[in-house]
Amino acid sequence: MTSDIAVHAEGLVKHFGEVKALDGIDLTVRKGQVVGLLGPNGAGKTTTVRILSTLLKPTAGTATVAGFDVVKQPDDVRRAIGLTGQYAAVDEYLTGRENLRMFGDLYHLAPKYVKERSAELLEWFDLTDAADRPAKTYSGGMRRRLDLAASLVAHPSILFLDEPTTGLDPRSRLGLWGVIENLVKEGTTVLLTTQYLEEADQLAEDIVVIDHGKVIAHGTSEQLKDEIGGDRVEVTVADSGAVAGAVEALRQVSGADALVEDLRISAPVSGGPVGSQSPTCSCVAPRSMTSSCR
Ligand SMILES: Nc1ncnc2c1ncn2[C@@H]1O[C@H](COP(=O)(O)OP(=O)(O)O)[C@@H](O)[C@H]1O
Ligand SMILES: [Mg+2]
Repeated sequence: MTSDIAVHAEGLVKHFGEVKALDGIDLTVRKGQVVGLLGPNGAGKTTTVRILSTLLKPTAGTATVAGFDVVKQPDDVRRAIGLTGQYAAVDEYLTGRENLRMFGDLYHLAPKYVKERSAELLEWFDLTDAADRPAKTYSGGMRRRLDLAASLVAHPSILFLDEPTTGLDPRSRLGLWGVIENLVKEGTTVLLTTQYLEEADQLAEDIVVIDHGKVIAHGTSEQLKDEIGGDRVEVTVADSGAVAGAVEALRQVSGADALVEDLRISAPVSGGPVGSQSPTCSCVAPRSMTSSCR
């Protein structure tokens, strides 16, 4: 294991009874890097994060975090990581400051250190004014920020963020993105999961796309857009009577099956990736299908 690797997983498999949650996941995160694990609901993101953070044992495969084996050296792994789960883990009845102190206690950190670190984190996450109010009075965005602050009390070098912005309004989401970007500037290694390409694109240099427990694509966001984003022809027809004709026309242009969403029909075009010289076709015909879309 070379020392610039923070997280390395090979062939991770996890079965829950009949359910094959993970079906052979390979993953590498270098130190200081942000990797986005992108996939729809049920893809296996949380299961991957739970295995890497030692909360679950894999059925097969191996993984190291900070150079330690997640199955054989779980205590060493836990000391190196911070984890913010998909659902905020703050205690409703404790204040923001008390929540952070509780995490300090869990990590057996010196009270004086925890006090200073908490004040610093509360300031950083814009929670100083609310620090002495019970967390149940916090908004969703504030809870997530507190949750993230809690995972940072022990100064982890590697941070796992499981869907950090799911359910947040756009403003809170932007705020959290800013915080994550700052963490990364300070050298924290981050593995974050998300359902949003936009979020992976914004935060991660390297994106691993998973579905049904398998890696289906991997690369920078530019590479992925070229590979799987592709261009699509999109046609909107005036009434449902025109849908069948449009589907057939698009099938001829595209060679692939068209996707029909109400009056909007779209299909991939093999003209090539964005930015290539091959001409691509993209049109929207609000009233009737235009014959120029060829
Ligand atoms: N404890 C569990 N028991 C049974 N099935 C589970 C359990 N945890 C997750 N699964 C299943 O494993 C698959 C992957 O789940 P998960 O890792 O939570 O996906 P994601 O986080 O990408 O939404 C899903 O089909 C889910 O229903
Ligand atoms: Mg999940």
